[in-house]
Amino acid sequence: MPPGRSAVALLRLPLQVLALASGAKSFRDNPVIGSRRLNRLGLHVSRVTLAALIMGLRRLWLAAFVPRALRQAFARDGFVVLPDFLPAALFAQLEMEVRACRHPTTDMVQGDTVTARVLLDGRVLGDMPAARAVLADRRYRRLLGYVAGRCRVPGQWIQTIHSGVRLDQPDPQRRLHSDTFHPTMKAWLFIDDVDARNGPFTYVPGSHRLTRARLAWEYRQSLAGAELPELYAARGSLRIDDAALGALGLAAPRPIHCRRNTLVVADTRGFHRRGNASDGRADRLELWAMSRTNPFNPLPGLPFAALDRLDLALFKGFLWLRPRLRRRT
Ligand SMILES: [Fe+2]
Repeated sequence: MPPGRSAVALLRLPLQVLALASGAKSFRDNPVIGSRRLNRLGLHVSRVTLAALIMGLRRLWLAAFVPRALRQAFARDGFVVLPDFLPAALFAQLEMEVRACRHPTTDMVQGDTVTARVLLDGRVLGDMPAARAVLADRRYRRLLGYVAGRCRVPGQWIQTIHSGVRLDQPDPQRRLHSDTFHPTMKAWLFIDDVDARNGPFTYVPGSHRLTRARLAWEYRQSLAGAELPELYAARGSLRIDDAALGALGLAAPRPIHCRRNTLVVADTRGFHRRGNASDGRADRLELWAMSRTNPFNPLPGLPFAALDRLDLALFKGFLWLRPRLRRRT
């Protein structure tokens, strides 16, 4: 390595070590996280185990706010499905607002799929009273907060999944994967019916649990680390084939077909994928939320609305900065 580059690598090293205490997950981009020697000594599985224990504690803080039956279903499957979540009149108004929303979208292209999102900030929510009511709904916030292990759930979007937009490339989200090494939350309040025609969210029940077999699998994956054949996997979102599920004691993936006005909340550390859309070109409209916090923070935060606004402002600053930094590099 040329001397200039090795000096830069040396300067980066403390930051890369510090990243071990964060949600950083890329074997490929962080040579400490991707170190085969350290992972052979158990670095990756230690992070996985500690993060799972800490999330267990955070969910325990918040358990009293969620009905026992829902907690049991979540503990068993790694996701919960609540049909007819909103009163019919509120859902009808929400649907009208969401379909009428004309704010510019942020689009992400992954293979043949385009995901179009509108961040639900104060400006967008200004003329959407039903959406404001949903986001303020205690039942909604408490369930999402419980799965996320935090008191607040600030990241919420209107999302449209456009499947089959380009047929030449496969969508990487249609392969079974785990989003990251630690428990994390995603939620969908479907505005459209979802079934085989438009690509249902598909989840391997029980795959959020950290069993011995899963830990052994994580260990083996971490040894390959940066050399894992798929880019997303080398960046820490591990992929698994359907055929390998049995060896981990897991059942087949279950597509979640549901009617509009169904809320689905899942821990996407469990194995999941976007289902194939049998109609080829198809859309799916939903309110979508996600939360990914520092997995090593044992506290669920504070339930103040002002902190929601601060989180949102920081996130928008990040969205503004990201393309500019990418352009420079
Ligand atoms: Fe995912």
